[in-house]
Amino acid sequence: MSQTISAPTHIPVLLNETMEALAVQPGGRYIDCTLGSGGHAAAILEQSSPGGQLLGIDADPEAIKVAKDRLETYSGSTLLINENFVNLRAICIKYNFFPVHGILFDLGLSSLQLNGNGRGFSFQHNAPLDMRLSPSQEVTAADIINTFSESELAQLIKTYGEEDYSRQIARHIIREHPIRTTLHLARVIEQVVGDRRGKIHPATRTFQALRIAVNQELEHLETALKQAINLLGFAGRLVVISYHSLEDRIVKQLMQQESKDCICPPSTPVCVCGHTARLRLINKKVITPSSAEVQLNPRSRSAKLRAAEYITTPEEYYQAAGKLCFAMDIKAGGWRKPALLKKLRVTSSSLQVN
Ligand SMILES: C[S@@+](CC[C@H](N)C(=O)[O-])C[C@H]1O[C@@H](n2cnc3c(N)ncnc32)[C@H](O)[C@@H]1O
Repeated sequence: MSQTISAPTHIPVLLNETMEALAVQPGGRYIDCTLGSGGHAAAILEQSSPGGQLLGIDADPEAIKVAKDRLETYSGSTLLINENFVNLRAICIKYNFFPVHGILFDLGLSSLQLNGNGRGFSFQHNAPLDMRLSPSQEVTAADIINTFSESELAQLIKTYGEEDYSRQIARHIIREHPIRTTLHLARVIEQVVGDRRGKIHPATRTFQALRIAVNQELEHLETALKQAINLLGFAGRLVVISYHSLEDRIVKQLMQQESKDCICPPSTPVCVCGHTARLRLINKKVITPSSAEVQLNPRSRSAKLRAAEYITTPEEYYQAAGKLCFAMDIKAGGWRKPALLKKLRVTSSSLQVN
């Protein structure tokens, strides 16, 4: 028995829509790249039984503990890994967990992380300015706040927070140095922005900017999404729920690009890119929560769900997978390309889903 952790209160966002977009089927193999409290994972395991398998990943060791408890009844069908999803490809190769029927990213933070557990993500609870998803990361929000120059801070707050008052906030931060706690930082921002934001707390954008920078969220998302596409089996589904426009832009652009046969600039008279579509968009328009869901779970209000299906044929998949393994230089783990391909043929034959 694993140790008992206080009950998670995170409500999975767009749960029905996610399950529909993932098209979860019995016996399927799924990856939840943002396990959190295991809400979506539990639904995936329930719907994919009998025979379903789930690889759950989270950078936060606390999330892994909570999800492990929650998913205990499925322990025989789950593999929970405390890792950053930027390493998705390496994780899947290490555990021989590909190709898969579906991959989910439910980005951002869980209620567990936001509920003032001393991690510094929230401006509503006093805590050290940390904001790291994992204690193994080196740079904290306090490091950025107290070592960046005024112009570097202004640039960061502008770019990642889309904050109009970035220069004024940066100037006040430098004057207040050192700033080591969330409430101290929130107070400094309030002095600059005041309550000019209506319903949004004046510190929201700056906190978002710091969190994105500390965890390299945008770079990691882009890298992981590209890896995810290569791990899908034929007709496998990629589902992403994002919570701010910077994330959503990355998801939208990548899905749109991968669903086109040509990505040459419109001015090019004849196609020279040789690009072929690998995805089919499931929902042309982004899916957002109903007003009922937002009322029940206000944290869902900014959620945007996008989904796509992998359309590359199994033959093309084998070729891509072979390249993938060569690119990873898989020798240490004992993998050899022919053995891997043989294994892939066996496993992917069960992926001929409709
Ligand atoms: C919104 S929560 C997921 C909630 C989950 N779907 C549920 O129903 O309980 C997002 C989770 O993703 C994790 N996360 C965010 N970025 C990550 C990354 N780059 N690598 C791994 N986990 C990440 C966070 O630690 C957090 O636990």
